[in-house]
Amino acid sequence: MTIDRSRVIEVLKGVIFFAKGDNIVDLGMLDELEISGSTIRFRLVFPKLGEPAVNIVSNAAQKALKEEFGQETNIEITPITEKEKGRGPLAGVRNIIAVASGKGGVGKSTVAANLAIALSKTGSRVGLVDADIYGPSVPIMFGVVDEGPGMTVKEGKQLIVPIEKFGIKLLSIGFFVDTDKPLIWRGPMATSALNQLLTDADWGILDFLVIDLPPGTGDIQLTLAQSYSITGAVVVTTPQKVAFADVRRAATMFKQEKLTIPLLGLIENMAYFTPADMPDKQYFIFGKGHGQAFADALEIPLLGQIPIVEQIASSGDAGSPIALDDESPVAKAFVDVAMKIRSIILK
Ligand SMILES: Nc1ncnc2c1ncn2[C@@H]1O[C@H](COP(=O)(O)OP(=O)(O)O)[C@@H](O)[C@H]1O
Ligand SMILES: [Mg+2]
Repeated sequence: MTIDRSRVIEVLKGVIFFAKGDNIVDLGMLDELEISGSTIRFRLVFPKLGEPAVNIVSNAAQKALKEEFGQETNIEITPITEKEKGRGPLAGVRNIIAVASGKGGVGKSTVAANLAIALSKTGSRVGLVDADIYGPSVPIMFGVVDEGPGMTVKEGKQLIVPIEKFGIKLLSIGFFVDTDKPLIWRGPMATSALNQLLTDADWGILDFLVIDLPPGTGDIQLTLAQSYSITGAVVVTTPQKVAFADVRRAATMFKQEKLTIPLLGLIENMAYFTPADMPDKQYFIFGKGHGQAFADALEIPLLGQIPIVEQIASSGDAGSPIALDDESPVAKAFVDVAMKIRSIILK
């Protein structure tokens, strides 16, 4: 006998969660229903575990399904909390750090990639998600454009296996969304793709999952803020005054009460220019002290100043971010930022 999915749902509609006075389907407690052969598997989302109601409802669901589909039917019910559902397979991820910016081209991806490497250098297990639908660039910066993520099955669930490079687990929205398509088509796909990258991937245990966000304040940022527990956001800006208007807008969004993604601090990228042959020189071509002034205005710490250095761009293009180069002062600057973020989060 094949078990009909809609029939399963009908049967479960007969199971009442008395605490809320309605059936478990209409209450949205049924989650991840899977039917394979004679096995019916699903999760039931409760406000809290350890309450008598959890067993009562689970047993009632078992009984109703066996009565309908036969006593030999194998029924696997996993009760979870509402909080767990929000996090799902991200339960092994200790901290999620979003890297945001007001506009594109300020070096957000460069900072995200190098920060991920710097965090890993400080002994953390690190993952990196490229969620920038406008221009996914993590695959280029890590030299994995020609690689595709694999798939695995865990506990009956299909999971994406992140690519590993330089000890970092990587996934890019660019692997799943056709970036040659016009943005208007990419947009709605992007939110569901991001959800997949976060909840249908085998991240395992990570100390930090860094997310390279699209610039500005769009659907991706909203989804992230509303559906996940983000430890904090790092905002990247350049020293130009015109950049700050956009940064302020993005920062204000994160600060809004309903979203509450804490702002960890600001990183001033392209803070000054240092020529390759004169590593001690600092030319403040966009003016000095702007990063600190922006950070003060937002009432957040200035986490670091990254110079304009040709090697930052060339190493990114070559698939080997500068933070890997132990000799480079820029690598040291990124490790400093990583240490500051750790001390803010872990205090
Ligand atoms: N500090 C820097 N010094 C030199 N080039 C940089 C620096 N930061 C970023 N770049 C280069 O600027 C370009 C845009 O950076 P990227 O990180 O892709 O920006 P975003 O992700 O904000 O659009 C890239 O070519 C990158 O290599
Ligand atoms: Mg980018």
